[in-house]
Formats: sequence, structure tokens, C-alpha cells
Amino acid sequence: MSKVLIIGAGGVGGVVTHKCADDKDTFSEIVLASRTLSRCERIQTQVRELRGREIEIAQVDADDVAQTVALIKRVQPALVINVALPYQDLPLMDACLEAGVDYLDTANYEPPDEAKFEYKWQWDYHGRFESAGIMALLGSGFDPGVTNVFCAYAQKHLFDEIDYVDILDCNGGDHGHPFATNFNPEINIREITQRGRYWENGEWVEIDPMSQSRTFDFPAVGERKAFLLYHEELESLVKHIDGLKRIRFWMTFGDEYLTHLRVLQNVGMTRIDPIEYEGREIVPIQFLKALLPDPSTLGENYTGKTSIGCLIEGRKNGEPRKVFIYNVCDHEESWEEVRAQAVSYTTGVPTMVGAKMLLTKQWRGSGVFNIEQLDPDPFLEELAVRGLPWHVKEM
Ligand SMILES: NC(=O)c1ccc[n+]([C@@H]2O[C@H](COP(=O)([O-])OP(=O)(O)OC[C@H]3O[C@@H](n4cnc5c(N)ncnc54)[C@H](OP(=O)(O)O)[C@@H]3O)[C@@H](O)[C@H]2O)c1
Repeated sequence: MSKVLIIGAGGVGGVVTHKCADDKDTFSEIVLASRTLSRCERIQTQVRELRGREIEIAQVDADDVAQTVALIKRVQPALVINVALPYQDLPLMDACLEAGVDYLDTANYEPPDEAKFEYKWQWDYHGRFESAGIMALLGSGFDPGVTNVFCAYAQKHLFDEIDYVDILDCNGGDHGHPFATNFNPEINIREITQRGRYWENGEWVEIDPMSQSRTFDFPAVGERKAFLLYHEELESLVKHIDGLKRIRFWMTFGDEYLTHLRVLQNVGMTRIDPIEYEGREIVPIQFLKALLPDPSTLGENYTGKTSIGCLIEGRKNGEPRKVFIYNVCDHEESWEEVRAQAVSYTTGVPTMVGAKMLLTKQWRGSGVFNIEQLDPDPFLEELAVRGLPWHVKEM
């Protein structure tokens, strides 16, 4: 029986709140706080209507450490779940340190003025969390998150040696808009417009953005073209999966999406530096975010499925082995269950499961941990029960 404080009332925050509300034995009290209170109210009403549970809501600016500390001290949660934006990771970790509470997130820190996500800022907190006797769990979404746990599971059970990992992320769904992003547009566009990067034979290899693609056959979706991107879990998996020779990340994009993105880039709408407009400064990508559909509203007419997994190659008992460990999630079923599309669903469910691992003390430690450093078995068992069944396919 534990009280949890969820920060961020967007697409993912809604799913986390619904899923925690479903498990009253673990999450006996839920407080949802965000910058805009009306977004918390919307989720509070949904949870009351769909799940018959009351949650508390609060307004907070998570960039302001003192405000968050005051909220934590008033609420007294056993865990703070950060599903706001990556910009809030460090102020929220500072607040957790000051208040002496465990922390969990789904995306690593990046500075607002530079599109460059890296774990170094958060790994630097390890000593301070360790001394305070509290735990930070990083990357408890789908990718990062479940994909890291799939690799840990493969290392523990399926392979003696892992040589190659390809993380394959396909959203085979259709939301009916000419252009929209499935999670926060600013974070999403910053991620995919930066240079691609993968790790091979002990070093990082950089490529031009979206300059390498390949067609994969995704379970339940079929053949789709995927592009090589840099993604944050590569940085931690290189450290924690022994003997890796190569790891890459691939994501599918449709032609319509890529054409819109190219035009937006060419006209400067994806710029992250401020420009002067009619006597005031605006950041083009933030203005673009205001024009695009809110990801938390995409779910209602979304059809199709996501199909995400890890293609892993290596050896077991001296024999070559290649497996694909994956999950398929349906947009319409996600909407039915928690009023969200499958990208928010596949992120929010593992967030709830990671939180459960900490609160039930199945995962325990002092310091800062990436999710693949913990035992994959109880997490994967719970993940399947909570709505994301997963499969191992021998290739
Ligand atoms: N690991 C994964 O698989 C994965 C996948 C998708 C997303 N993610 C991560 O999940 C997080 C949430 O994504 P999302 O799609 O739910 O984004 P979103 O819909 O934009 O929601 C973000 C929420 O955070 C709130 N927020 C922003 N700044 C804040 C601040 N200073 N203080 C308090 N609240 C603040 C926003 O408030 P306002 O309403 O006031 O703007 C909004 O409600 C992001 O970090 C994203 O990178 C991870």
C-alpha cells in the first residue's frame, strides 16, 4: 500500500494514472500534478468515470525545485513518477534528493537549448542518491524501457553471448491527420532531426539524419521501411549488455510524415533557437507544437497497431541463435481501455509496472539505475498481466 505522485498530465501521464488506479493494492493513493491544472482535471474525471476511483490533483511547475519539494512534503509519496518532459528530469531529481523520495522516469535529460540527450547528467546523481539511500529508475517506458528489459532477459535466459541487437520500432497505425506526432511534438522532432548514431566494434558511428533505411517485416503489421536513428537506450545498453559487437535503433516513418517534416525543416519551423517576431522572441518548434494536434487527443479515431521489439543475434550452448522479442499493441483497444493511443499506452504501462517493482521492493537499490540493470523476470511477468503481452520468436 503506497502513495504515488505522478508529475505530467499529458498522453503518457493519463495512461500511468489509469493503470495505477487499476491496482489499488499497490497504489493505494494517487496524486497527479502538472503545470496546467485543467489537464489533471480531465484525467481525474476519466479515472472516476472509467475506474470508479478518486485521485487527488495539484498544480506544479516542475522546473521550480522549491515548489516541487513543497508538494512532495505535503503529499508524502513513496515515489515520484516523472512523465512530464525530459527538461524536468534534473529539477525533479534535485527535488527528490531534497525530500528523500525515490524517482522514476521514461526519457533521459536533454537541455532545452541543445537537442542532445545523454545519460551523463543523470548518471552524475548516482553518488548523491546512493548516499541518501534512495533509488532513481531511469527509462521505464517502452523504448527506452521494455526494449532494455528484453535485452536483459535475452542476456539472462536466451544467450551465452550476444553479438548484435537491432531495436525495431514500428507504429503501423493511422490517426487520420496529415501530420501529427505520437508523443510531445517538440521532443519527438528534436529526436528524429538530429544525426543518426549506432555503436559498432567499440565505437560510435555517426551518419546524416535519416540517411540509412531498411525494410523489416513487423509482426501484425507487415513490411515497413525503417530509418536508423540515435536513441537513448543505446548508450546504456552498450554499458550493460556484455560483449556486444553492434547495436542499432530503427524506426518506421511513412512518406507523408517525411515529406511534411522535410518542408517544416526547410522553412525553419523545427528550429530550437529563439527568433524575433513582432517585437517578441519565439522558438519556432514551440510555435509548431502549439499548431499540431495534442498527442493525448489522437486516440479516438486511431486505427492499427504498434509492433516494437529487439532482434538479437548471438550464441547459446555453442550454437548460433537469432530471436525477435516483441510486443504488438492495438490503438483502438488502448482507446477503449484508457482513452489513449497505443504510443502513450506502450509507454504508460511499463511506467506503472516499473513503479510497482519499486513500491513492492521487488527492485531495490540505492543510487541511479537504468532499467536493464534490474532483474527482468518480475517486470516482464507483470507487464504481460497489465496489458502488454510479449513474445519470443526464433528466427
Ligand atoms: N520511453 C518511451 O517509450 C517514451 C515514449 C513516449 C514518450 N516518452 C516520454 O514521456 C514523457 C511524456 O510524453 P507525453 O507524450 O505524455 O508528452 P505531453 O503530452 O506533451 O505531456 C507532457 C506533460 O508534462 C507537463 N509539463 C511540461 N512541463 C512541465 C513543468 N515544468 N511542470 C509540470 N508539468 C510540466 C505538460 O504540461 P502542459 O500541459 O502545461 O504543457 C504536459 O501535461 C516525455 O518525457 C516523453 O519523452 C517516453
